[in-house]
Amino acid sequence: MNRLAIKAAALIAAVYGYFLIFAQFSFVELIRAGGMNHTEEKIILGVMAVGGISSGFFVAWREVSILWLKSALMVAAITSALAPSLSHMPFALLIGFLAGASLGVATVSLATMLKDWCGLFWVGLGTGLGYGFCNLPWVFQADPSQQAYIACGLAVIGWLITPKEKQQQELSERSTEPSLNLWRIILTFTALVWLDSAAFFIIQHESEMKSGTWGAEHLWRNSALHFFSAILAGLWMAKGKIKVLPILAWAVLAIASLAVNHTSTLAVTGWLYPVGVSIYSVALIAWPAWFSGAKMKNQISWRAAALFGIAGWFGSANGIGMAQSLENVPNWFIVASGIAVISSILLTDKRSWRIVAIFGILIFIFQIGNLHGDKISKSPIERGKQVYISEGCINCHSQYIRPNSADEILWGKGPSLEDTTAQKPVLIGNRRHGPDLSTIGIRRSSAWLKQHFIDPQAFASGSPMPSYSHLFSDDRGDDLVAYLSSLGMEQYGDRLKQIAAWKPNEMTVGNDGKDRFSIHCAVCHGTTGHGDGSMAGHFQKPPANLVEGPFIWSAEENHSDDRLARIIKFGIPGTDMPGHETLSDQVIATLRAYILDLRKVQNGK
Ligand code: HEC
Ligand code: HEC
Repeated sequence: MNRLAIKAAALIAAVYGYFLIFAQFSFVELIRAGGMNHTEEKIILGVMAVGGISSGFFVAWREVSILWLKSALMVAAITSALAPSLSHMPFALLIGFLAGASLGVATVSLATMLKDWCGLFWVGLGTGLGYGFCNLPWVFQADPSQQAYIACGLAVIGWLITPKEKQQQELSERSTEPSLNLWRIILTFTALVWLDSAAFFIIQHESEMKSGTWGAEHLWRNSALHFFSAILAGLWMAKGKIKVLPILAWAVLAIASLAVNHTSTLAVTGWLYPVGVSIYSVALIAWPAWFSGAKMKNQISWRAAALFGIAGWFGSANGIGMAQSLENVPNWFIVASGIAVISSILLTDKRSWRIVAIFGILIFIFQIGNLHGDKISKSPIERGKQVYISEGCINCHSQYIRPNSADEILWGKGPSLEDTTAQKPVLIGNRRHGPDLSTIGIRRSSAWLKQHFIDPQAFASGSPMPSYSHLFSDDRGDDLVAYLSSLGMEQYGDRLKQIAAWKPNEMTVGNDGKDRFSIHCAVCHGTTGHGDGSMAGHFQKPPANLVEGPFIWSAEENHSDDRLARIIKFGIPGTDMPGHETLSDQVIATLRAYILDLRKVQNGK
């Protein structure tokens, strides 16, 4: 067996595995978990891209070497190991920069030296292993800090196995096709990465393919699809051919992106997306050394730096940006990217190529213009929904209440599954760190929502939900509140009936009434219940004075009446009094008894 080639393939798997799992995946979530806001997140990711692009050119200029590659892997390992503890902006910027810089050096060095170590089949195998690994269920579904440690492990393995020796490569694998010029190839791959990143963003945020229909068995399938299509692409390139691969990858990704827009065809996306991504990734890694026409090492490095810098970092940032603002992969973009890929690969006549390129750019500019118009005409609710998507709320909140489950008591009946999946985008959400939001418009007032976004911990001490106060520095916050306030309103009547029918099962009273009151009620009603809590000034009507009244909603409480218990559990819809849906019946009974005592004290005076 070819020991060197095996090592090289494993090294590719380690470097690209690290890239996927850390730079593309867990890092973003760790930034959010570290409390960074949306703008800060963008800045950090921008710095990472700058690090990636500049370091690629830097290492091409300083000349690629084993030492550079090994150092980069070491820095990458340290960076990902530190990432789970990031919480300050300067530290996050440093980590972002180092992650980008180490990847820039590693990918360019690797692309330059690969040809000394192995043939194209092994490039396919290595890429397939990297992608396949990242899609294994226990890697893909691990939480972000675990993913960062896995990435650290990959970088360390890469460091350990980086080959030292060189091997004379027999030149059987010379390209049999005329080489493509750098700018064409950059255009081709930029279009592909852009399309891929946009589709991937939609898959992750829109249809939540990870959940529901996309259980662990699909991850195994995705992993296998990545693996085998990368190997096939490697075998194809070993014949000296590459040109058809980008076109094939585009076609596959184009169908996958079209299919993502409809729930009925979603499954097609699941099958095609991994194939398209693997095919072009293998071609991208192999192009500088084998197909760029470069004769000397440093030519290879420069070309790799330019290609990875522009196509990789710039393409993916734009793809994600486009998906975030449009919520889908627009058809015009699929066409424009197709024109870019096919024309730059097939049209060898310079003039016709340029005409097509200009045509593509015009479509693009025209559409960007349209896009702007679109945004302005959207309603606050629609804009708020985009804020919901781009802020990643779906990572912690679901919008789906399982029919006939215990959740129906807590949140009310949600919209039917058909209605939910007919939404565009589908926002079911698979993680449930926080309450379900499908009926939040009934359960919480706008004023409450706003104050809760500004300071979640004021209402729920220890809440892991980050503050979103920055959204209120422009319209995004109010748009988001408008969107949430609209959720579930069709269910309003049913919800009122459901609440009216509710009775606590248990009425044993605990002796921690005072503590419970100070945890759940005092921010608004004040520690003594006089309606003068620290948040009291933020609502339409001041919180009721629970000691002296007047009592509007709970007047002449008669003890067999469950009305007061209902108010505590479900709030008073239409007012700022929120529900406390998740409290147990016993806690509700305790609170009820406590506030009845408050009144008695007053009456006894
Ligand atoms: C890190 C996870 C996390 C993220 C991210 C997050 N939330 Fe929350 N959210 C929670 C948890 C936990 C709660 C329950 C505790 C509380 O009320 O703060 C909650 C509560 C809420 C509530 C109150 C629900 C109720 O029934 O009382 C709303 C509304 C809400 N979140 C909306 C959002 C929106 C909108 C976003 C995105 C801008 C978001 N959350 C992001 C975890 C999160
Ligand atoms: C976010 C602030 C807030 C919190 C937290 C809150 N309340 Fe209220 N509550 C209000 C407001 C505002 C009103 C007045 C509603 C109206 O009439 O518009 C009110 C009204 C009430 C009423 C009705 C009084 C009447 O007029 O008959 C009761 C009872 C009550 N709250 C109990 C509680 C209890 C018990 C808790 C804690 C479990 C609690 N509230 C938590 C804001 C709050």
